[in-house]
Amino acid sequence: MTVLHQHVHDMIAVPSRDEEARQEFTYSLRHYLYRSLLPGNKTVYDADVGPKLTKRLGHPPKNRHEIRPAMERSPYWQMTSSIRQVTQEVMWDTFGEKIEKRLPDLIDKARKYRQSNRKKGSLTLNPNLPIPRYHTAVDIHTQPGAYHTDLAPDDVFAGALYDDVIWMFFLHSAGGLNDAPGRANIQWLKTSYPNLKPKRILDMGCTVGHSTLPWVDAFPDAEVHAIDVGAPVLRYAHARAEALGKAVHYSQQNAEETNYPDNHFDVVVSHIMFHETSNKAMPKIIKECHRILKPGGVMIHQDIPSKHFMGGPYGAFHSDWSTHYNAEPFIGRLMDVDRPQMCLDAGFRPASIKELDIPGLREPSTMDVMGPAQNIFAAQK
Ligand SMILES: C[S@@+](CC[C@H](N)C(=O)[O-])C[C@H]1O[C@@H](n2cnc3c(N)ncnc32)[C@H](O)[C@@H]1O
Repeated sequence: MTVLHQHVHDMIAVPSRDEEARQEFTYSLRHYLYRSLLPGNKTVYDADVGPKLTKRLGHPPKNRHEIRPAMERSPYWQMTSSIRQVTQEVMWDTFGEKIEKRLPDLIDKARKYRQSNRKKGSLTLNPNLPIPRYHTAVDIHTQPGAYHTDLAPDDVFAGALYDDVIWMFFLHSAGGLNDAPGRANIQWLKTSYPNLKPKRILDMGCTVGHSTLPWVDAFPDAEVHAIDVGAPVLRYAHARAEALGKAVHYSQQNAEETNYPDNHFDVVVSHIMFHETSNKAMPKIIKECHRILKPGGVMIHQDIPSKHFMGGPYGAFHSDWSTHYNAEPFIGRLMDVDRPQMCLDAGFRPASIKELDIPGLREPSTMDVMGPAQNIFAAQK
């Protein structure tokens, strides 16, 4: 069964007719913004702002930092930027109000999945885990309470909200279960390492497990583990996986320093986690991946592309919007950081280090949302 193309499982807060109409409006607004309004910024840049800037600088702009102040004076950019910000907030409100009404029922269902004798996976929470400052300092991408805030005992609000919102955020392009990023990583791994038969896989920064579950299907003989810092998203993730009949072992941990032993996993992955960490956390996470991977094990991280894959300074400027207006302060930093160097510093085999676009995700719908393409960086221990 589907509602607005989303796969409906037991933990989805199914909307009433009125709520569905509101969701439709929010989707249409976002669709119109991304498909019709935002591309106009490039027209404004090419026809007006870019040529004037080149003349004033005496050379074409070299990076996004030179473009921003000029574009920020453009009324068209100001208008689309304001609509973009409002649309983001409307999205959280649209789904948040619906979920708040159903929250006691969702909490109850999640508890039942945890207590069931027939559960396939597990959930381990750590109420004493310090939540990193890069999560507590801002409501990340304006998501009220971000991923970690509990509104009630055994809360699942942040998870239920994310499950709904991300499906709209990707403009339905990631599939009914929002699992395209996971499927893309799997395809790359199977093509690049056809002989690898993983027995134990870890997904870091799993949120509600959108990208985790395809790993269960792709490697039925493997044990699949997934970590996140947020308790409410993990409670929801566990219930969602059980509702969909998938065995995943969820655990509340910081990817910078996990409690797994050395040489434990055959594959460690993440999907759109790095841009929500920090300058200091990124290299620590790569080192942690190296520690917990077995020799020969593979690490794959998927996120926004680095600036070299942005099609020039304008693409980088456009993709950097969320750093400045959407409480995602480290997007720009991830675009700049030398990912292969981080892998080298962590001790990965130099010849195995790769940074590339995933063509499967280079589709118009994701271009404006996540940058020109999704990018992976990967390495073997
Ligand atoms: C955009 S979401 C990732 C979505 C998910 N991987 C997917 O593909 O659907 C980023 C997630 O990374 C988690 N995260 C960020 N920093 C983390 C860290 N240091 N350790 C564990 N999880 C982290 C956040 O709590 C959040 O749930």
